[in-house]
Amino acid sequence: MGSSLPKVLITEPIPDKSIEFLSDRYTVEIGEKGRFQNEDALIEAIPEYHALLCMLSNPITKNVLQAGTNLKVVANFAVGYNNIDVEAATELGIKVANTPDVLTEACGDFAMGLLMAVSRKFNDAEQYLREGHFKGWEPLGFLGLELRGKTLGIIGMGRIGQAFAHRAKAFGMNIAYHNRSPLSQKEEQPLQASYIKDLDQLISTSDVVSVNCPLTPETHHLINERRLGLMQEHALLINISRGPVVDEKALAHALHNKHIAGAGLDVFEEEPKVYPHLLTAPNCTMLPHIASATFETRDAIGMLAVQAIHKILNGDDPKSITNLVN
Ligand code: DGY
Repeated sequence: MGSSLPKVLITEPIPDKSIEFLSDRYTVEIGEKGRFQNEDALIEAIPEYHALLCMLSNPITKNVLQAGTNLKVVANFAVGYNNIDVEAATELGIKVANTPDVLTEACGDFAMGLLMAVSRKFNDAEQYLREGHFKGWEPLGFLGLELRGKTLGIIGMGRIGQAFAHRAKAFGMNIAYHNRSPLSQKEEQPLQASYIKDLDQLISTSDVVSVNCPLTPETHHLINERRLGLMQEHALLINISRGPVVDEKALAHALHNKHIAGAGLDVFEEEPKVYPHLLTAPNCTMLPHIASATFETRDAIGMLAVQAIHKILNGDDPKSITNLVN
């Protein structure tokens, strides 16, 4: 029976529940961790599969999609889908799904935690303790930025930007944002958020600048040397969106030269590589792209992705599938 079932490739292990959902219905292959991080490995494997469940670290290029002669659907195990050439998929009639909504709250929590870590220098202070330098309470040790009354400037006020804003509001921060268009009054009002049309103005007037926009050709290096130069000396930068939105070389320079006071990064320009000069930068908290990493959320991401695959392979009306991006 198994051999006549459609074949699904999951590029690396994901939560059991979603693997079981697919294995009950299809022939499923799971790649080992890291195997499909390059185009060639994908091109070689893809021809026999009808569906691909991929990670944000898998480059789903036009070449990969063209090699997928049996491919009907690509479901990304992520909300961001800059790793997939959606235009090529559309031309080839391959549906692409992502995982919106289910990770919003986990990412909102994480952004707030990252801001706390940077504003109160958790990492540098912990390292100091672990290295045995803590000799007693210090009145001038590890002084940080108090959040109450400060302005959080969010670039990209989508679901995750808003989830972060709600948490920051509860910490007494003022919320300002830059977005393609202002929020509705219903969304803006509880946050008492100010829409700042001019991005440079948002950056120069915020105490914390947070990058929450998707990576597109327009947002590549949106935070560059010039814009880092607009930030205030005591200001902090948070990035949990995609690494290439920030020019890492310029950021490392700004941190080392104390042009800004700190950064919290969950994403990097060339993951898994980190720009070496960032590794030695003061007050820079760096984490390995874990914003959505809770048991609950990763289960939900998996289920949303496998359901999109199942619906497409069963010829459901694409309009009924809410997480398709083409
Ligand atoms: C996503 O889903 O795009 C996130 O980067 C995962 O943490």
